[in-house]
Formats: sequence, C-alpha cells, structure tokens
Amino acid sequence: MVKRVAPFKVADLFINRWSPRAMSGESITDFELMSLFEAARWAPSSYNNQPWRFIYAKRDSKNWSKFFDLLVDFNKQWAKNAAALVLLISRKKFEYNDKPSRTHELDAGAASENFSLQGFLNGLVVHGMEGFDYDKSREVLGIPEDYTILAMYAVGKPGKKEDLSKELQEREEMSDRKKIEEFVFEGNFKK
Ligand SMILES: Cc1cc2nc3c(=O)[nH]c(=O)nc-3n(C[C@H](O)[C@H](O)[C@H](O)COP(=O)(O)O)c2cc1C
Repeated sequence: MVKRVAPFKVADLFINRWSPRAMSGESITDFELMSLFEAARWAPSSYNNQPWRFIYAKRDSKNWSKFFDLLVDFNKQWAKNAAALVLLISRKKFEYNDKPSRTHELDAGAASENFSLQGFLNGLVVHGMEGFDYDKSREVLGIPEDYTILAMYAVGKPGKKEDLSKELQEREEMSDRKKIEEFVFEGNFKK
C-alpha cells in the first residue's frame, strides 16, 4: 500500500485526489455533473481561447451505449458502473484568427484537471481513460478534423472495492509519484 508523502507544502486536495475504479452504478443529476464542467470553465488558456470541448453521455440516456462501446474491454469491465462518460477534445486553432494554437492541448489539460479536482471535492470518482477507440469516436460523435481527441473520463458515485474483479481489486489503491528532482531542473535540461 503506497502512502503518499509530500515533503513540501501542498494543499491536501492534490495528494488526496486519485482515480478509483470502483463505482456504484448510481446515476448522477445534471446539477452534479455540471459542477465539474463549471470548474473546467474557469481554467486558464492562452489568449483565453478556451479550446476545450466536452461531449458526454449519462448512463440512463440513449447516448450511453454510443460512448460505452468505444471503450477497450479492460475499461468496460469497471466503467460500466459509471454515471457518465465524458470525452474531452480541443480545438487546434484559435477562434479569433483561425491560426494554429501551440497550447490548445495544454489548455484543455488544465480544464481537465479542474474537472477532475472538482469531481473529487464533490465526492465523485473521476477516472481518465485513453483506452478507447479514438478514430471511431471521431466518426460516431461527429467530431470535425480541426479538433484533437484527448481523453475520456468515467464519472460516478464511489462503489465498493469488493465488487471489482480480483485483478482490479489489487490495483485499487493510490499510486506514488516521481521525486521532484526527477522532473524539475535548475538552469538546464538534465537526464
Ligand atoms: C489521460 C489519462 C488516460 C488514462 N487512461 C486510463 C485507462 O485507459 N484505463 C485506466 O484504467 N486508467 C487510465 N488512467 C488512469 C491513470 O492510470 C492514473 O491517473 C494514474 O495511474 C495516476 O493515478 P491516480 O490518478 O490515482 O493518482 C488514465 C489517466 C489519464 C489522466
């Protein structure tokens, strides 16, 4: 069992957020879901361009299977208990001049972290996924070529670890991180 330790000052939120897979299968209201998008809305972006777009399906809607069928089998086995599946895409060009944006994915990443942290603060599970069919999602959801498909998120009410498969139960724990000196360099790049 990893015990997350932070040698430097950091808000509890950052070390307590994690990505469980156990979800209860309960629905969430639009009000609950919109809170996460509201958080995403306030993310910073280059030129305040806000290139992120979220496309979602709630489990009790007719759109659910369209999203769910995009997932790889590994993700299907646990994401079946999510209350919503949310796809994050970003617009490659600035809206104000239609020139390429170098930071659109970074901007959308900031929105995704706001989204995830707000979900955590609201007592929901938010679990990012790259295990889905990117090409098919473009086709099925009608996403134009000038948007990059970034990631899918499973959002739901927390469930019981015991209800996961044995294999998933073993993975249902907080993960650790690299040490700061492995990714922060003073002066110049270091290997
Ligand atoms: C963009 C992205 C894609 C991910 N893809 C998957 C996935 O397809 N399946 C999965 O089970 N977890 C996936 N994860 C979860 C990561 O493995 C997890 O966030 C990482 O191990 C760190 O753990 P933590 O979020 O619990 O702190 C993904 C996370 C992110 C941010």
